[in-house]
Amino acid sequence: MNAKRILITGGAGFIGSHVVRLFVNKYPDTEIVNLDALTYAGNLENLSDVENKPNYKFEKGDITDEPYINDLFDRYDFDGVIHLAAESHVDRSITDPLSFIKTNIVGTVNLLNAARNKWKDNGENKLFYHISTDEVYGSLGETGFFTEQTPYDPRSPYSASKASSDHLVRAYYHTYKLPVVISNCSNNYGPNQFPEKLIPLVINNIKNMKPIPVYGKGENVRDWLYVVDHARAIDMIFNEGKKGETYNIGGNNEWRNIDLIKVMCSILDKKLGREPGMSESLITFVKDRAGHDLRYAIDSGKLMSELGWKPSLQFEEGIEKTIDWYLENEKWMKNVIDGTYESYYKKQYVDR
Ligand code: NAD
Ligand code: DAU
Repeated sequence: MNAKRILITGGAGFIGSHVVRLFVNKYPDTEIVNLDALTYAGNLENLSDVENKPNYKFEKGDITDEPYINDLFDRYDFDGVIHLAAESHVDRSITDPLSFIKTNIVGTVNLLNAARNKWKDNGENKLFYHISTDEVYGSLGETGFFTEQTPYDPRSPYSASKASSDHLVRAYYHTYKLPVVISNCSNNYGPNQFPEKLIPLVINNIKNMKPIPVYGKGENVRDWLYVVDHARAIDMIFNEGKKGETYNIGGNNEWRNIDLIKVMCSILDKKLGREPGMSESLITFVKDRAGHDLRYAIDSGKLMSELGWKPSLQFEEGIEKTIDWYLENEKWMKNVIDGTYESYYKKQYVDR
């Protein structure tokens, strides 16, 4: 690692906190600056174990605030940026697309502009790393995989905003020679994920004997990757990825939602000492998500063959670890589920 100072945006969120932890611990001689607006999804409790490390610094700020971002780049001499800050939940993008446009597109352009201004004379050893999603590729049928060559076909306001930011990052590479790299990852799971997303929501509802909302028939397929393995891939790509390139990251681990939920029900029945089948009785089919993508599946062949990445654990182990973490961290869950979460939940699931 040559970088003396790295900006990580969105470091108080789910994936960002795992990336910050990995970098702070692995690179004690590199200063890690975590910039986060602390929206409903940002939680500094996720980083309590590294907050006092000498190479960690937190900056509260909004990437949509252009003067603030320019000032931040003036105050720090960043060698690299790992950009994760985003509005990330598809359902919220359906009810409020504009906030996704502002953060995911305008926010990304503010960062690109600031990096371009600061690095215009010494860009060779710098890197702007943009973290994106497999959802930009659209929806697969029953077969096939997304590769780095798959044409973009985003279908939700969230994925359209991420696709737009990816295009802008590539445009800055070609037009201004800004040194960039992009990765597109499949669904992450693990500790610290906000319980609006499927896996923590299901764990929390089972624990509290609340209905498990399954969209449509539960036949949609997602490719799940343990979040720590995404963070490891980000580390490799930041250090060894080729400028101007894109890398897909996936778990090679496809599950139909309904099958995944049933596995979680059965694990939780055992862990909570319940009769077999008790948690499954909570499964409730609800109205489908608008424009619900059928299937995502990632081909990570390029990342594996060029950089030697592979996931460190199998899904069976990852889901056990994840469930144990949520059961052991009741206080974390209580703290993130405040009145705002309750009113979101009511609007999304009860009043729809
Ligand atoms: P998250 O919603 O848990 O965290 C997002 C973080 O960004 C939060 O800490 C939030 O406070 C911060 N943020 C939001 N708006 C901001 C703004 N305007 N200025 C500064 N900070 C702001 O998201 P996540 O699931 O950790 O996803 C992180 C990134 O990875 C996103 O770019 C997302 O598109 C991408 N991604 C996520 C997944 C997944 O499965 N969760 C998969 C592939 C890619
Ligand atoms: O593929 C990567 C993407 O994965 C990321 O870019 C997004 O930021 C992340 O949120 C995730 O998007 P999904 O829409 O796939 O994740 P979510 O957890 O919202 O839903 C997973 C699947 O479960 C999806 O098919 C919808 C379904 N679902 C979700 C919720 C919240 C339900 O059936 N019921 C639910 O209550």
